[in-house]
Amino acid sequence: MTPLAPRSCALDLLSRYGRDILSHASMQGMKGFAHHAQTSVFAHSVAVAYVCVALALRLRLSVDMRALVRGALLHDYFLYDWHAFDGGAHRLHGLFHAGRALKNARAEHALSPIEENAIHRHMFPLTPIPPRCREGWLVCLADKACALCEVFFPAYLRAVAPMAEARAQADGSSSFQG
Ligand SMILES: [Fe+2]
Ligand SMILES: [Fe+2]
Repeated sequence: MTPLAPRSCALDLLSRYGRDILSHASMQGMKGFAHHAQTSVFAHSVAVAYVCVALALRLRLSVDMRALVRGALLHDYFLYDWHAFDGGAHRLHGLFHAGRALKNARAEHALSPIEENAIHRHMFPLTPIPPRCREGWLVCLADKACALCEVFFPAYLRAVAPMAEARAQADGSSSFQG
């Protein structure tokens, strides 16, 4: 696991602010889409959210933690297999998937301006307009770091998504009972 911040703090924040997104049917469906190497889009998105939170905690950054978690979880919410040709429907995936992710996320979740910006601008510098908020920069940086890690050190972040999901489910059932 990352040495960036205490694991339980980061998982707690992921669960608190991302539980509804983690359990959403579309997000769960992202488990079926491969992303980098052996990692699914779901696992990648959760790892990006975890690294964003861990970085913000470690660097003591003043951020909107809810927006950071939600923007990170939804940054790749494009909802298709980008490896599949699909008749050319998803051409230039690298350039256009952030816009598709934003459109899908808007359709299913009420987004704040910070969340929208983090999703829409996460592909900078491949896309030319940079994020304009600290949360967006964190998502942008964590996305690159996680992608590299998933390709070259695939075991390193593998435990994050199952742990985050287990924590969110446990927290969800305890708040339901309580
Ligand atoms: Fe992306
Ligand atoms: Fe990503």
